[in-house]
Amino acid sequence: MAKVYKTAVVGCGRIASLLEEDPLREKPATHAGALAAHPATKIAAACDINAERLERFGRKWGVPSPYWYRDHREMLRRAQPEIVSIATWTDSHCEIVLEAAKTPSVKGIYCEKPIASSMSEADRMIAACKKRGIPLVIGHERRFDANFVRVKEIIEKGTLGKLKTIFAQALSLPVPALPRKKYVGGTLLHDGTHLMDLALYFGGPAKWVIGFNKRPYGKENIETTAGGIIKMENDVTVFVEGGGEREYFKFDLDLQFERGRILIGNSGIHAFAAGKSRHYTGFRELHPVPFPAPKTRVNSLVGGVAEVVRAIRTGKEPVSNGQDARDALALIMAVYESAGADGKKIRIGNGLG
Ligand SMILES: NC(=O)c1ccc[n+]([C@@H]2O[C@H](COP(=O)([O-])OP(=O)(O)OC[C@H]3O[C@@H](n4cnc5c(N)ncnc54)[C@H](O)[C@@H]3O)[C@@H](O)[C@H]2O)c1
Repeated sequence: MAKVYKTAVVGCGRIASLLEEDPLREKPATHAGALAAHPATKIAAACDINAERLERFGRKWGVPSPYWYRDHREMLRRAQPEIVSIATWTDSHCEIVLEAAKTPSVKGIYCEKPIASSMSEADRMIAACKKRGIPLVIGHERRFDANFVRVKEIIEKGTLGKLKTIFAQALSLPVPALPRKKYVGGTLLHDGTHLMDLALYFGGPAKWVIGFNKRPYGKENIETTAGGIIKMENDVTVFVEGGGEREYFKFDLDLQFERGRILIGNSGIHAFAAGKSRHYTGFRELHPVPFPAPKTRVNSLVGGVAEVVRAIRTGKEPVSNGQDARDALALIMAVYESAGADGKKIRIGNGLG
C-alpha cells in the first residue's frame, strides 16, 4: 500500500477550512479539503491560537481532540507530523516554517502565500528548508491549474508568437487603514502576489520595476492601491495593479503576443488570434478562437498537496517553491520601494530579487 503522510494543519481559518462552506467555490477550496481528498495525506493534528476555530476544524475534519493544539511548537513536538500545512496570517509564516523545518519528523511543507512579510524572512525560510532537504511549496496554486499550465505551454511553443505584454490586475473593495508594521501591504501583497508569481511564471525573470501607490491613510498604513511596470529580462512588459477601490473583486491577466491574445482569470478564459481585418483593407486584427483547454483538470489546491507529496517522493525541487515565491515578493517590495522614492527604477538581479 502506498505511504500515507501524517499531516498537521496550522491555522484553521478561511483557506484552511472555512471557504469549503462557500457553495460557489470549486471544491476542494481549502487546505483541509485538499488534504482529505489526496490519497497520500491524512490530517492527524490541527493547531490554532483561536480555540473555537480549532474545535470547529477538528470536528469537521475528524481530528481527535487530543491532537488539537493551541501552540504550533507543542503540536510539532508531540504530534510529529510528516507534512505541515501552514494557513496562518502572513506575519507568522516564517516562524512556523522555521520550527517545522527543525522538526525531525517533517518531510514537506505547504505554506500559504505571500511567503512572508519581508525578504529576510523569506530567505531564512528557504535556507532552513534547503538545509534539511525539505520541499517548501507556497500556495500560488494557479501554477497547478491546468488552464494556466496550458497558457505556459502556448508561450513556450510560440503558438501565438512571442509574449510581448502582460496586463495583470487584482482589484478589490476599498481597504481600511491597517498598520504596515503588521500587514506590510494591501491588495498588491495579499492577492497581487498571485499576479507577480504568474507574471514571473509566464514571462520572467524580471529586470527592473517602477512603482506607484496611493496611501490616503498615511505612510505608516497600508496602501489602497499599488502597482507598476515590470520589465522582464526577455523584454516582456508587465503592467500590474492591486487594490483599485472598486465595488467588485477582479483577478485577471491579459497576455498579448505577436499574433494573439489570451485573457485568463476570474472573467474566464478567452483566446484571440490575428487574422484578416473585417474593418480595414490590408490590415490584420484579433479574432476570437477557442482556447485549447486541457481535457483533464486537477483541482489546484489538490495539485498543491500532490506537489508536496511528489517532491518528498522524488527529491526534486517542487513547482511553486520558496524561491519562486521569494521572487514574487521581491517584485512587490520593489513596487513599494519605487513608489516611496517617487517612481525610482529598481533593478532586480537575475530573478533573485
Ligand atoms: N491561496 C489563496 O488563494 C489564499 C486565499 C486566502 C488566504 N490565503 C492566505 O492564507 C493565510 C491565511 O489567510 P485566511 O484568510 O485563511 O485567514 P484567517 O484569519 O481566516 O485564518 C488564519 C487563522 O490562523 C490562525 N493563526 C494566526 N496565527 C497563528 C499562529 N501563530 N498559530 C496558530 N494559528 C494561528 C488564526 O487564529 C486564524 O484562525 C494568509 O497568508 C493569506 O494570504 C491564501
